[in-house]
Amino acid sequence: MKILVVGKGGREHALIRALAESPGAHEMFSFPGSDAISELAEIVEVGSDVEELLAWMSAVGIDLCVAGEESYLVKDDGLANACERAGIPCWGPHKQSAQLEASKEFAKEFLQRHSIPTGGGSGVNTIEEAREVIGGKYPVVLKFDGLAAGKGVAVCMTEEEGEDFLKEVLVERRFGEGRMLVEEFLTGPEVSIFAAVVDGEYQIFTPARDYKRIGVGDEGPNTGGMGAVASRQLIPAELLERIEREIVRPTVSGLQSEGLPYRGFLYFGLMLTPDGPKVIEYNCRFGDPECQAVMPLVKGDLAGYCLAGAKGELDASKISFDEGWSVCAVAASAGYPEGSRSGDVISGLGDVGSARVYHAGTRKSASGEWETNGGRVLAVVAGGPDRQSAVAAAHGALDKISFDGLQRRRDVGILHFEEA
Ligand code: AMP
Ligand code: GLY
Repeated sequence: MKILVVGKGGREHALIRALAESPGAHEMFSFPGSDAISELAEIVEVGSDVEELLAWMSAVGIDLCVAGEESYLVKDDGLANACERAGIPCWGPHKQSAQLEASKEFAKEFLQRHSIPTGGGSGVNTIEEAREVIGGKYPVVLKFDGLAAGKGVAVCMTEEEGEDFLKEVLVERRFGEGRMLVEEFLTGPEVSIFAAVVDGEYQIFTPARDYKRIGVGDEGPNTGGMGAVASRQLIPAELLERIEREIVRPTVSGLQSEGLPYRGFLYFGLMLTPDGPKVIEYNCRFGDPECQAVMPLVKGDLAGYCLAGAKGELDASKISFDEGWSVCAVAASAGYPEGSRSGDVISGLGDVGSARVYHAGTRKSASGEWETNGGRVLAVVAGGPDRQSAVAAAHGALDKISFDGLQRRRDVGILHFEEA
């Protein structure tokens, strides 16, 4: 079948590879894609509005559109809404449902309406309202309710930090107009749960954990993700059952009861607090870099699974999950995340043995060499029957790769497990 994947990063590289390796002959297309993706899929050259992409899909006869990233789900009339109009199966939710990710206040109110465990929170418009809701009680978490390129969340330990962020966002309007969510500060290890949702049904994929900070020991600023670890054994079976009962099932039935169409991956960002698992965010797509860690664990016919799902049938028999562990170690460019450098030549890509290398920010130079293209550059993924062997394999493979200024975390797959 003809499959289009929307996105251009490491997550999409992993998705495209998994879909292309599914049984059957598949013609892969990617929009907007990347140089590395162009080796697996034809790059679609159209403008950035959804209607133009839709016209191209119809003309080419695309059988399945897969949303890798979220932005097109809420752009214009919404990617899935447009596909539905044209009769093209789409793996990714409608625009109105994708508000779960696009608006933090929408998500918080949805969680509260359905009594799904989450930190207390309420939306405010002004700094005065924010101060009233906070009531001088710190720490507190402040979340700008709009697009902020990942910089819209501040975990404020003191009133001084809180006041600074409130002024920046609600007075100086650093991110433009928009409301703010004032949220209760939660503590505990984080875990990412992914479900494939088809209307009222769902299937939970392999749980994962990502490493968001730039530095070892979770130090330094947030990034797009410096690595991830995934396994069915990441959390105990009873805990996963509790998450399913208290969080996943009520979310899926909440979507149904509110008439919010959903066919696609749904990401639950959870914190395992002393009072049990609580939702800190929803995303309407797979995680990046969790996808890179999870995809090698998925066996079977992912392409057929997504197509059936996009048409309204959750066919769990099409896929199965490896019981082992998978670790994804990211190499980021010099200067990231404050800035980032491009044009550093990458060596050792052919020396990683059986590890998989997904490209997030690379390009091919005029002379045909791979070089860095800013931000996170590569994700190196390897697995094993236990966590230790997967950790050794992934980090060992990344040891073979080098470029000037390479940044990585050697504690991916290690930190947050010592206590377990
Ligand atoms: P978000 O964009 O909502 O996922 O938030 C980014 C990061 O901020 C999360 O991965 C957490 O590490 C942290 N965070 C978000 N919400 C809370 C909360 N209520 N309490 C403590 N930390 C949080
Ligand atoms: N790994 C975090 C995210 O995909 O948003």
